[in-house]
Amino acid sequence: MKIYVDSADMAEIENGLALGLCDGVTTNPTLIAKTGKSMDAAIKDICSVVDGDVHAEVLSLDAEGIYKEGKEFAKVADNIVVKIPMCHEGLKAVKRFSDEGIKTNVTLIFSTSQAILAAKAGASNVCPFVGRLDDISSPGNELINEIVTVFDNYPTIESEIIVASIRNPLHVVEPALAGAHIFTIPGGVLAQMEKHPLTDIGIAAFLEDAKKFT
Ligand code: E4P
Repeated sequence: MKIYVDSADMAEIENGLALGLCDGVTTNPTLIAKTGKSMDAAIKDICSVVDGDVHAEVLSLDAEGIYKEGKEFAKVADNIVVKIPMCHEGLKAVKRFSDEGIKTNVTLIFSTSQAILAAKAGASNVCPFVGRLDDISSPGNELINEIVTVFDNYPTIESEIIVASIRNPLHVVEPALAGAHIFTIPGGVLAQMEKHPLTDIGIAAFLEDAKKFT
């Protein structure tokens, strides 16, 4: 299992690193916009502290444009993964990057058929969005179950599943039970995962009883 930090915020990323909970980082244009930095500056800052994969998302929607953007990202650091929205032109670019040994993440995956195409095109990662599916009353974890089953059925598929759009701890636990490979988790959800009310009650009770020591 790998845990990525789903953020472009350096404080969140450094917190994940300090806890040993940052095997990589995923970003997207929305997360970069929140930092107030340019895409290049944000990605360079992240790559300066993270040794694991750093996912940088292209904006182009044509294969040539995606390829050019991805090649620029790949110059920033060896650990860049080019993140490409699921689309026909994106798959063409994935194939080209795959042939050149450049890692890719096909993002915005909402169906098993999309995951199959991305994997066969040569994507290093497929990135299904559980939270956004749950938002429209379509169970996100059912998609994870299906993709895990298909990938297990065909051991020649090398793509790893990154569970994305994680909004709460169950979005980690259920896909982990299904056998997904990677979980990209926002800082707030990482903090939620630490907590249990019985742990807090237990700590308070032990400290109270410790006052009775002679
Ligand atoms: C990560 O790769 C995705 O871009 C991110 O998890 C999307 O999260 P959201 O659906 O909460 O915006």
